[in-house]
Amino acid sequence: MKLYAFVGCILLLCFANVNAQSIASKNVFASGKVWLDEKGEVINAHGGGVVYQNGKYYWFGEKRGASASEGVNVYSSADLYNWKFERLALAQDAQDTSSDITKGCVMERPKVIYNSVTKQYVMWFHLELKGKGYSAARAAVAVSNSITGPYKFVKSFRPNGNMSRDMTLFKDDDGAAYLLYSSRENYDLRIAKLTDDFLSVTTKDTMLFSNHREAPALFKYDKKYYLITSGCTGWQANKASLHTTDNLWGKWLESPINPMIGNNADKTFGGQSTYVLPIANKPNQFVFIADEWHPSNLKDSRYYWLPIQLSTLIPTVTWMDEWQLNWFDNH
Ligand code: DGJ
Repeated sequence: MKLYAFVGCILLLCFANVNAQSIASKNVFASGKVWLDEKGEVINAHGGGVVYQNGKYYWFGEKRGASASEGVNVYSSADLYNWKFERLALAQDAQDTSSDITKGCVMERPKVIYNSVTKQYVMWFHLELKGKGYSAARAAVAVSNSITGPYKFVKSFRPNGNMSRDMTLFKDDDGAAYLLYSSRENYDLRIAKLTDDFLSVTTKDTMLFSNHREAPALFKYDKKYYLITSGCTGWQANKASLHTTDNLWGKWLESPINPMIGNNADKTFGGQSTYVLPIANKPNQFVFIADEWHPSNLKDSRYYWLPIQLSTLIPTVTWMDEWQLNWFDNH
């Protein structure tokens, strides 16, 4: 009996130790590795974006099954290394088969911004209707009074009648917000100014360039706007490009240099841009975020988080197996 109790104790200790290892506090970004949340569960937040609010970062991303789209997850973190699963921020509608977001629809690239006038968090995402492949090409909007949701679906539509697939949101220093979206079968990249409540697009909507690009990720540094995009090769990685402008409605110049540096730089290291995260209260620190898609098991797709180097001729992103935020102190 004593022996059984002893073996039982040893097994319990082993189990506790395995668990403790999986939830150990992290202090590096290891792009391409499996990323676990604080409970040791694999983080499921693809094509995502990150918002900073009241001392915490909130990471919104696609919840994926092996191939299915299963809504939008949100995680929170105070340090960007350790993430707590908050909830399914936007669920698909399991009951109403006539809903635009009925179970079986495809929700991609969710991005959230805060509207300080309406005090609402506004989520935009790319929506494809159930059973229609990628032909609906709509932008969709959901809102919540609290950052983690649950978000309430508002509507889906084609902005000013234009097809809208890969997209991002950008909130400028003056509080105005913009939708950037791939249109006309992804040949055109467009920008539309949002209405003051951020729930719709205005008719201020123009083409940035017609280079067959998707996966837009925009950031602003030293009064210039920088836009990283990918080519259009489905889930396969391709070469990123960088466009620059002083004026969102002006001329966008394409950098002749690929901003990615390192092994497989011509394929964005195997990933595809999704967002550029400005580190809170650090005006010169930006993190490039990309997805390494695994189309045969989308929920196993990996994350790349890499620092953007601003001291080079153009902003560049160098591959690093591991790095820490203090990298910015010396670059
Ligand atoms: C590339 C897009 O960037 C992704 O978000 C997704 O729509 C895939 N295409 C689907 O093939």
